Amino acid sequence: MKTLKLTTNKQDIEAAAKIIRNGGLVAFPTETVYGLGANALDADAVARVYEAKGRPSDNPMIVHISRASDIGQLTPMLSPDIVTLIDNFWPGPLTMVVKKKPTVPDRTTGGLDTVAVRLPESQAAIDLINAACCPIAAPSANLSGSPSPTRAQDVVDDLDGRIDAIIQGDDCRVGIESTVVDMTGEVPTILRPGIITAEALEAALGKEVVYDKSLEEAARHVALDPALGVSESDFQPKSPGMKYKHYAPKADMLIVEGERENVKKEIERLKGLNEKLGNTVGVILFEEKAFIEAAHDFFARLRDLDKEGVDLILAGALSDTDGVGFAVMNRMLKSAGYKIARV
Ligand code: TXA
Ligand code: MG
Repeated sequence: MKTLKLTTNKQDIEAAAKIIRNGGLVAFPTETVYGLGANALDADAVARVYEAKGRPSDNPMIVHISRASDIGQLTPMLSPDIVTLIDNFWPGPLTMVVKKKPTVPDRTTGGLDTVAVRLPESQAAIDLINAACCPIAAPSANLSGSPSPTRAQDVVDDLDGRIDAIIQGDDCRVGIESTVVDMTGEVPTILRPGIITAEALEAALGKEVVYDKSLEEAARHVALDPALGVSESDFQPKSPGMKYKHYAPKADMLIVEGERENVKKEIERLKGLNEKLGNTVGVILFEEKAFIEAAHDFFARLRDLDKEGVDLILAGALSDTDGVGFAVMNRMLKSAGYKIARV
């Protein structure tokens, strides 16, 4: 398949919208990461997204709309809390899981009776959804399992020849995917952390917001299982975390966590050891507390290091337990298959 390369000008957006209306697939920029879009109400089109990404078809997708009022097409129930979050955070990097109407195909929601909805802030995304005249289902525009795409070239690298068109816009402002919050229960529950933090949601809602157990379990799992650490002599992961592998670079990856000075020293030491043994090593070490920058750069750094062909990536853990740094750590841990060394 020849993949059209489009710009964000009006004519090209029109062409892209036509492809979406006809059941095709278009990658487009959003403020978080690039998305791979299809008509959310067309089950066959949505099935093609799974195919192009090589993704298991029970994984539900986020449905993107261009006006807040369009959420009514997708859900029968707008609680006061949902309306508050719409007012405070849309357009922007917040996805809400709400009860779904029957018009949303099961294919789009992976058979769930809920649907994830987001109103992105990126102008190109808004223009595309408007021109297509339908909500657009869009997972991140990467091959399943590889780092999320934050630059047009990342999408080309993964999906050229597999989809109908790519809108080549700017680099994504945020760099990690939207915060996903489940609004179907009594207590709003964060299913995926992002740059809109639990604290920000609580401030807007005036009530408690919790993290889904799986996020807490993942954190605990890492904290409690010393078998996941590595010693000098045993650099290979013992690998219980492999089943979590996600956003994974081609290189092996290890996170080093601890006091900043110790982390720096340990990374230098491991780098030296590995280089002596003939491995090439890439390092990801963000400035202390520079969480927004870390979010912006993390996936791009993984992809760049893969292009350089390094064997091993050593990454310094971010010290943040529930803010933006926590959201980046969520991705970093998955990328590394939960391999972590404490110093
Ligand atoms: O920033 C983003 O959200 C990007 C851009 C393109 O908008 N999209 C994105 O989509 O990250 P994807 O498919 O890579 O991630 C969607 C996440 C998954 O973790 C999925 O399990 C969750 O949202 N999700 C979708 N629908 C859901 C539902 N009905 N219930 C619970 N989780 C849902
Ligand atoms: Mg994704």
